[in-house]
Amino acid sequence: MRIAVLKERAAGESRVAATPETVKKFTALGATVAVEEGAGAGASISDAAYREAGAEVASGGAVVKDADIVLGVQAPDVASLTGAKPGAWVAATFDPFSQRERVDAYAKAGLEALSMEFMPRITRAQSMDVLSSQSNLAGYKAVIAAADAYGRAFPMMMTAAGTVSAAKVFVMGVGVAGLQAIATAKRLGAQVSATDVRSATKEQIQSLGAKPIFVENVAGIEGEGAGGYATEMSPEYQAAQAELVSSHIAKQDIVITTALIPGRAAPRLVLDAQIATMREGSVIFDLAVAQGGNVEGSLPDQVVEKHGVKIIGFSNTATHLAADASALFSRNLFNFLNAFWDKEAGKPVLDEEIGDAVRLTQGGEVVNERLKGD
Ligand code: NAI
Repeated sequence: MRIAVLKERAAGESRVAATPETVKKFTALGATVAVEEGAGAGASISDAAYREAGAEVASGGAVVKDADIVLGVQAPDVASLTGAKPGAWVAATFDPFSQRERVDAYAKAGLEALSMEFMPRITRAQSMDVLSSQSNLAGYKAVIAAADAYGRAFPMMMTAAGTVSAAKVFVMGVGVAGLQAIATAKRLGAQVSATDVRSATKEQIQSLGAKPIFVENVAGIEGEGAGGYATEMSPEYQAAQAELVSSHIAKQDIVITTALIPGRAAPRLVLDAQIATMREGSVIFDLAVAQGGNVEGSLPDQVVEKHGVKIIGFSNTATHLAADASALFSRNLFNFLNAFWDKEAGKPVLDEEIGDAVRLTQGGEVVNERLKGD
């Protein structure tokens, strides 16, 4: 069983899909791990550290040769996988809805693509869930980046020269990233409020010591669909939410938006007219910028200034914390393969519930239900 780890090819990607820790763990299972030279550089992991952990370190071509499994953060193009065993598994994020051509190319090449974003949201898969581990770090980083761009302090400070008032932070979308954003902003001493369409988040917001801001007067709204994800809301709800948010946003210094709906463009939550009501010097961090953005006018990796308000957002937030993000991502991949490791066969054997959910291609075909009909 040969496991290959390539240096990430995507522009701006600093993470890596295995760390010395997971190399050791895979080796203990009986696998050979090969890592491409320089693969860990962006995450502060040297080739020597991989070698010490027992990995073979070589060029990309040599690493992939005869590989049974290739690990990636972002799936590599098929061209980088030449020489892998027929039917080799590639476990990585595939962005399957927007990168459909790459999925088709994997099928054509006879590779088995395992899309980590399609990990089901069930209790036993929590430790394998890269969306959660990376979103958690992204929520933290969003607050740190917003605090850095903000020309004022977060905590209230009573000084001899007078009082500095606490920043008001509003978090929109309270999933994994939003919860971490709330916790981080609280730790920095801000006054925090938050909103979501899923009513179950109200208690979670309160338990972190923040104030929930919710649409109360539209009946029959739960906002929660399959797998704990949000559903698209009715026009009536959207109008009520826009009104509530408008009055609240005008009083905020920092807004962090995290709202996503799987397989669709991110919902638009903050409009230009609302930005215009904010105090000059306020900061908005749009964590959904890569999925179309929650904020009107936000652009990936740019600071857009509108009405004196800075709007920021990274195309890939987790890469800005490459060392921790790689450590968690790598553990997710190890936890996934280890959970299915068949000692006698010396390789992982997936079950239906998780295997069918994450497998995109097999035997030359696109086999995933969520991609059929596309
Ligand atoms: P996400 O990244 O898909 O969306 C972020 C947040 O935006 C969600 O809370 C969503 O409800 C909210 N949102 C969507 N549309 C909105 C709108 N118009 N206005 C305001 N907010 C809006 O969600 P994420 O972070 O992946 O988590 C969703 C849920 O799944 C959470 O309850 C989480 O605990 C659960 N989960 C369960 C896992 C497991 O059991 N293995 C793993 C990961 C998450």
